Amino acid sequence: MPFRIGIDLVEIKRFKDIAKKTRFLENNFTEKELKDCEKKQAESLAGRFAAKEAVRKTISENIAFNRVEIFNKKNGAPQVNFLDKNIKKKYKSEISITHTKHLSQAICLTEIL
Ligand SMILES: CC(C)(COP(=O)(O)OP(=O)(O)OC[C@H]1O[C@@H](n2cnc3c(N)ncnc32)[C@H](O)[C@@H]1OP(=O)(O)O)[C@@H](O)C(=O)NCCC(=O)NCCS
Repeated sequence: MPFRIGIDLVEIKRFKDIAKKTRFLENNFTEKELKDCEKKQAESLAGRFAAKEAVRKTISENIAFNRVEIFNKKNGAPQVNFLDKNIKKKYKSEISITHTKHLSQAICLTEIL
């Protein structure tokens, strides 16, 4: 089957007061993501983390979270950019993210190329 689906749900409070946890941030987010999340930090980080988990559920390789970059297009729609060349060649992933006051959820549909 050429498609796989993944989902994840994250509590936003896990990402509050996270500014000092630099090792955790560096291991899980790219510089671009950290810059993009500056405004709505906890919610944005939680949504991206959920998206990375959802993506990882759809691929066979155990890729590091800071090699799966999530960014927003001009219209706000989130996109996945694999920073690992081999993985980029093998998969095309589409994601969607939603937030409530306490939770961020993401779903991923991956096509195996
Ligand atoms: C996208 C939209 C459905 C968000 O709905 P919401 O109930 O306010 O918020 P949700 O928590 O469910 O979703 C927020 C997430 O939707 C995603 N999103 C934003 N814009 C999107 C779009 N155009 N298409 C798909 N997903 C989008 C983002 O991932 C965002 O989370 P993030 O900023 O942390 O990455 C709503 O803003 C909408 O209808 N927008 C229409 C497009 C639009 O107005 N674009 C103008 C921007 S220039």
